[in-house]
Amino acid sequence: MGTGSGKGKAILFGEHFVVYGLPAIAAGISSVTTAKLTRVRSFGHTLVDNRLAMPGYKEKKYDEQKASLENILKHLNIDTTRMGFQIDLEGDLVCASGIGASAASCVAIVRSLNDEFKLGLNDEQVNEAAYEGEKGYHGTPSGLDNTVSTYGGLVWFERDLGGGPPKFEKMKLGKAVNLVIASTGITASTIEVVGAVKIRKETDPKWFDSISEKYNQVVHEGKDALIQLDLPKIGKLMNKNHELLQELTVSCEELDHLVKVARENGAIGAKMTGTGRGGNMIALAPDEATAKQIAEALEKARAVGVWITSFGL
Ligand code: MEV
Repeated sequence: MGTGSGKGKAILFGEHFVVYGLPAIAAGISSVTTAKLTRVRSFGHTLVDNRLAMPGYKEKKYDEQKASLENILKHLNIDTTRMGFQIDLEGDLVCASGIGASAASCVAIVRSLNDEFKLGLNDEQVNEAAYEGEKGYHGTPSGLDNTVSTYGGLVWFERDLGGGPPKFEKMKLGKAVNLVIASTGITASTIEVVGAVKIRKETDPKWFDSISEKYNQVVHEGKDALIQLDLPKIGKLMNKNHELLQELTVSCEELDHLVKVARENGAIGAKMTGTGRGGNMIALAPDEATAKQIAEALEKARAVGVWITSFGL
């Protein structure tokens, strides 16, 4: 039996902008997806998805998940016409848009194949194979999600628009920073939302350039603020990033509402995270007690799932 796991993630700065080569900062969270590979006597492969998920999530992602697995098998040269196996997906990461569930499952699957077939892949090669899997979920992934899912921790990431390997570095803050994650319960299609931004960008490049110029300043200031552990500044910049994502038209009423509730209940800053138009938001909390207070307020505001986590160590 081969096993593997991949971490969930929260993007602190830079969803969508990262697709166009701007830097992003994301944190691996402690929840994981696990994959367990068992050989079977028949030929072919089966994926059994036992992950906890937002209503409708798995149905919406079904075809993409199939395409993703085929991409991974092709990339790793694994042919199931003369042997067979079943992969079971499980773990404590609840599938919701924005939490990196697709990337976490790709990384877990690659690691289970690596384990079972003794492929000898190192993390860099696991990440490359998971990136091929991510292409099944959306044609042009930046590579941010699979990188954070593979390595965990807090990551500064820049995509190479020339097709080369991304530049990324792990950031250690030396202290845990509290984060609350809440889901709108709406499953977004990354391929559709990224595609919509692309069309708008192509029709109005000046519109995109002016927003991304402002974002570029936010992410660089965000990196400094994180290194200095300047929580008020980080929060302010997260709020600014949310505004820019609203301008990019990827937020929505439900996300804006949860962001407002979090800010009114003690969050130092809050923003949508991931694809948007549904999915998740994140809120920065000054301490654990306030994180609980924010989480309770978000639950009352009808967030469909709420999780307290931390990053930075
Ligand atoms: C999705 O988690 C993040 C996006 O920026 C897409 C990507 O980076 O590939 C929206």
